[in-house]
Amino acid sequence: MKQQLEQIRLQAMAALEAADSPAALEELRVKWLGKKGELTAVLKMMGKLSAEERPVMGQLANSVRADIEAKLEERKAAIHSAVLEAKLASEALDVTIPGDTVTMGHQHPMNMVLQQIKEIFVGLGYQVVDGPEVELADYNFTRLNIEEGHPSRDRSDTFYFSDDDSVLLRTQTSPMQIRFMENNKPPLCMLAPGRVFRKDEADATHSPMFHQIEGLVVDEHITMGDLKGALVAIMKKIYGEDSQMRFRPHHFPFTEPSCEMDMQCHKCHGTGEVDGHVCSTCHGEGWIELLGAGMVHPEVLKCCGIDPEKYSGFAFGMGLERMAMGRMRINDLRLIFDNDIRFLNQF
Ligand code: DAH
Repeated sequence: MKQQLEQIRLQAMAALEAADSPAALEELRVKWLGKKGELTAVLKMMGKLSAEERPVMGQLANSVRADIEAKLEERKAAIHSAVLEAKLASEALDVTIPGDTVTMGHQHPMNMVLQQIKEIFVGLGYQVVDGPEVELADYNFTRLNIEEGHPSRDRSDTFYFSDDDSVLLRTQTSPMQIRFMENNKPPLCMLAPGRVFRKDEADATHSPMFHQIEGLVVDEHITMGDLKGALVAIMKKIYGEDSQMRFRPHHFPFTEPSCEMDMQCHKCHGTGEVDGHVCSTCHGEGWIELLGAGMVHPEVLKCCGIDPEKYSGFAFGMGLERMAMGRMRINDLRLIFDNDIRFLNQF
């Protein structure tokens, strides 16, 4: 029995030393010390021993048990700290490693110009509104006094959604005049920027999608003088106090009289020439067209329930890309839509 006990001690010590997880330790505890364990089995045979042998073997068995228990505790602590150490090592965070630098972006040049223009108009009391890009032909053409068969209604110019040509992608922001007058009573002072769509091939000055900014002012006693005064003041704020403007007569079905406003070319200062060559910015014109405008047609007021005998108004529509190109000295419209980061970073 003595041999058996010593053997148990030796085997248990070796096995415990090799165990490397809490689960393995528990398995060994059961194997040696459990109710059906090997040490317990030996102790059960104590009864067969002589009276002299019994206390001696009892003592030995107790010391084997105590050794195994001590070893179990020791291994438990060792395994616990090893696991902890491994966890700490795997979760180690070196706060001295340099971080990834996040580069700050900025607004798109066209949005910058839009923002500046909006701020100027808001400062003058204009209300900025938004409207649908998918529009009814009724608003885009008919109620703007654009008759059936007008060339701008042609399928080769306009993106239609329906076979009867009643739903389309708006070709101008002018339908916002109708939408605004339908829902608001004078005095009105509105600005409506947004995307418009036309079947144009993309080149340096054309794109099938571009942005317009529509403006509308309706009140009693509004005259062409108010139109000129407001637009000149606004353009001087945008392009500088010393910039030169001119108004030319024009025709739009929804305004009467109608005009276009030009700005003197900032590159050739109106001469049309730079170093003996035709100016590339204005193509020799000396002037750059900025917008279309006019006094709101009485028919347009009437169809929105506004009495043209009492009220009058002016409206204008400008191309945002053209404004951005002029302000930022961009010479190809496509650059604005390409979103090449090397281009955008220049602003
Ligand atoms: N909608 C016109 C266009 O797309 C521009 C325009 C002209 C707008 C005269 C107006 C206006 O409000 O009064 O060419």
